[in-house]
Amino acid sequence: MTHTPELRPDQETPKKQTVSTWIEKRLPIFSTFRREYIQFPMPRNLNIWWAFGAVLTVVLLLMLATGIFLAMSYTPSATGAFASIEMIERSVPSGWLLRALHMAGSNLFLAFLYLHLFRGLYYGSYKNPRELVWFSGLFLMLMVMMTAFAGYILPWGQMSYWAANVVIQAISSVPLIGEGLAHWLMGGSSPNDLTLHRYFVLHFVMAFFIIGVVFIHVICLHVVKSNNPKGIEPKTKEETLPFYPYYVAKDGVVIVFALLLLVVLAFFFPDWLTNSENYMPANPLETPANIAPEWYFLPFYGILQIIPSKFLGLLLSVGSLLLLFAVPWLDRSPIKSAKYRPLYRVALLLLVISFVMLGIVGKYHSHTGLVWFGRLALLYYYVHFLVILPFSEKFELKRTLPTSLLDEKEAK
Ligand code: HEM
Repeated sequence: MTHTPELRPDQETPKKQTVSTWIEKRLPIFSTFRREYIQFPMPRNLNIWWAFGAVLTVVLLLMLATGIFLAMSYTPSATGAFASIEMIERSVPSGWLLRALHMAGSNLFLAFLYLHLFRGLYYGSYKNPRELVWFSGLFLMLMVMMTAFAGYILPWGQMSYWAANVVIQAISSVPLIGEGLAHWLMGGSSPNDLTLHRYFVLHFVMAFFIIGVVFIHVICLHVVKSNNPKGIEPKTKEETLPFYPYYVAKDGVVIVFALLLLVVLAFFFPDWLTNSENYMPANPLETPANIAPEWYFLPFYGILQIIPSKFLGLLLSVGSLLLLFAVPWLDRSPIKSAKYRPLYRVALLLLVISFVMLGIVGKYHSHTGLVWFGRLALLYYYVHFLVILPFSEKFELKRTLPTSLLDEKEAK
């Protein structure tokens, strides 16, 4: 007969040793997961804009999965790339599906990325103490843009080739170092086999770096916790809800709708967002009539088109992105959410219109009549960040903010 030793009143009943308790003792992943993704306190008033981060994460994983399988059949050489893409579309089992999901996924990813960034601008999520969340997000955006650009080169169609060529031209306009830098990046004076190989490696490797930076982004967010539509920090437990089940369910619904949109795009409109010119193999001797990048790069391409000096165009185009890093310091208003800043809301609307206008100019840049509209839009873009953001606070009507997230009364 076995004898169970008597426990002193201050002793805990020993827990049954299971695999999970064994792991937990050595690497506390289960308790960390419970703390960060189950019990994690979220502001109770989050709206749909707060679901896009989760959508981005899911689409990113889908891009990675489809990308790895595509890479297994892709040939990264100037002579084989185009044919290997055709083979994926026609002969590889479900290759067409993988490619359609990867292409629709990239468009959806960039669309949600812009919405996610806009949410940050609208609700002031970049402000103290969330500056590092904003920074890591911007790094992600730069990395995603590099990856998307490299991906566009890989089919080695007409647009792939000529888009790479436009970038070389832009880089080589940098005084003193431009020519050398472009030559070094391309491995020659025009896009060639070496260029394609480099872009393939860049595209593949960046995807994993992006996943790493997403971890940093979310860790930064979990230290300072989420902002919310009212832009005031929750002070009591009643103003928050645990992440599980409330936001798991809410994010889940938005993810399902986003995936539905993805399959509708992939199955019914696989070529809607691509340029038909890219279904012709790259030909260095024949320039397409209208070289244009994917829609998500159009505003930046538009800037290159409306400035006569190539170098200045490049500076303003790259500067329009880098300017976003300074936003936490440029905005001096103590109020976070644009909900309580009517003047800033109008300014933000004008910013969106200018951005779209620049995109239209990028797409139809050969229509010379659009150039001045583009220049006006560009002027507003810079004025918004360098003048309106720092000084608008002086002209805003003073508002009394709600004191709690439970407060149903809106600010007057
Ligand atoms: C690969 C791209 C990205 C992924 C996967 C990602 C993921 C996430 C996730 C999961 C969240 C928490 C849920 C939410 O608030 O939506 C979040 C929050 C946030 N992200 Fe991103 N993000 C990305 C890019 C960006 C970019 C480009 C920016 C803007 C510069 C950004 C800025 C923010 C901010 C400010 C928050 C906190 C928002 C708040 O609490 O109000 N993120 N992100």
